[in-house]
Amino acid sequence: MPDLKVLLSRDQIAKRVAEMGEEIARDFRGQSIIFVGVLKGAAIFLSDLARHVPLEATFDFIGVSSYGNRPTPREDPAGHAAWDSSGEVRLTKDMDQSMADRNVILVEDILDTGLTLSYIQKVILAHQPKSLRIAALLDKPSRRKVQIQADYIGFTIPDAYVVGYGLDYAERYRNLPDICVISNP
Ligand code: IMP
Ligand code: MG
Repeated sequence: MPDLKVLLSRDQIAKRVAEMGEEIARDFRGQSIIFVGVLKGAAIFLSDLARHVPLEATFDFIGVSSYGNRPTPREDPAGHAAWDSSGEVRLTKDMDQSMADRNVILVEDILDTGLTLSYIQKVILAHQPKSLRIAALLDKPSRRKVQIQADYIGFTIPDAYVVGYGLDYAERYRNLPDICVISNP
């Protein structure tokens, strides 16, 4: 049986996401922005965050996947496979809109090794945006493999596997309202 322990409650998340939205609104006052969410984990965070940013804004989504065969949950009950990406990232869904000369807020659920975001950052920078900022709800700095920092961070968390509020284990638990540490998945 999976064991789920609440790490961040829905109230803590709501309060922090509102603060992050206010910070973004202050930094981009009088300008328009584009939120680019990383599918699928950032979908819930993006939808909550954007509603706290009362600026002219549009949404876009990018899809990425890591190369490599990951064992199934049955083969890897500790869940490390879902966690340790091979490091090679590929685009599964490109952006729909032009990023050229736009203020881009890249929205991600969690910054872990940093490999995914550094890849996406390069893809977006190739389009020559006016500015590019990263908003990550969670940050696990202890696991970083490449040097990358988010401009807006919700919570810095310890080295544990978390699910809920968009984050999954083998595609499950994204709909949990709280962020939980999962063991025995
Ligand atoms: P990175 O490339 O290692 O920074 O990995 C980022 C991606 O790995 C995130 O977008 C998540 O999809 C996934 N990930 C990393 N840590 C966790 C976790 O604790 N729970 C769920 N997904 C995670
Ligand atoms: Mg993700």
